[in-house]
Amino acid sequence: MSFYSSLCEALKGKIPESAMQKLPKSYFIVGKIAIIKLHGELEKYKKEIGEAILKILPVKTVCLLKEIRGERRNPCIEVLCGNGTETVYKEHGCFYKLDVAKVMFSKGNKFEKMRVVKQVKPGEIVIDMFAGIGYFTIPIAKHTKVRKIYAIDINPDAVFYLKENVKINKVEEKVEILEGDCREICKILGEKIKGDRILMGYIFETYRYLESALNLVKSGTVIHYHFLAKKEEIEEEMKTMRKKVEKKGFKADIKYLKKIKSYAPRVYHWVADIEIV
Ligand SMILES: C[S@@+](CC[C@H](N)C(=O)[O-])C[C@H]1O[C@@H](n2cnc3c(N)ncnc32)[C@H](O)[C@@H]1O
Repeated sequence: MSFYSSLCEALKGKIPESAMQKLPKSYFIVGKIAIIKLHGELEKYKKEIGEAILKILPVKTVCLLKEIRGERRNPCIEVLCGNGTETVYKEHGCFYKLDVAKVMFSKGNKFEKMRVVKQVKPGEIVIDMFAGIGYFTIPIAKHTKVRKIYAIDINPDAVFYLKENVKINKVEEKVEILEGDCREICKILGEKIKGDRILMGYIFETYRYLESALNLVKSGTVIHYHFLAKKEEIEEEMKTMRKKVEKKGFKADIKYLKKIKSYAPRVYHWVADIEIV
């Protein structure tokens, strides 16, 4: 039976028939927590819906996701039923501890994480400019012979869980965590080191952070450049990126360009692998 059918069954007699059609058809699970979005008209039945989901799915808590706010990507989450918003999620042999009410978790990057992991060569120096709880840092540290990953994030909650995840996954020797604005940190770091690979896993006006990343490049550095755009805006986005790279005296060779996921109607999350030459 589908999730929707099971939910309708569990809510029979508890909410009006007319509301049934608007029930969520999908959900996502992070560790032991189910996260759903609700049609505005179902707001008054949210407790009943939460309790029904708790009976259907093997989770300890059901949460309602309202929005993800601001540059720190803070989730606005309401607990509908159950207890606790902290959980551990396992993916590709890595453990990610997080509080879903404090930091966002993006499952849409699952393929992208392993695609990057497969490219990392032994001895590389990697800079993860928007590390979050370690979405890319942890699998790279765990599955490759990377020399060092500098993992940067501005959000103290993300940094708290990044530290935890480095410990849980036993990769302390490979990861250096730097809390703060990557624009400032990259400037300072660039005086000491250059990276073989730079992860720019942030999608909002990513070009604003490119100059900072360019403090850390040398010939051969690969930048994994994430951005949001409509299909017809890609050329302009790449033109802006090229201009910034050329201003620093380098050239950008786009080795790969792919859609990661849909973000809004006709707007997609893309990633480009840019080799600096
Ligand atoms: C979308 S999340 C992490 C994305 C993750 N790399 C992925 O692709 O799944 C973006 C992270 O960037 C961090 N962030 C935003 N602006 C930042 C800045 N100026 N410096 C450092 N971190 C920043 C946020 O705190 C958040 O944890």
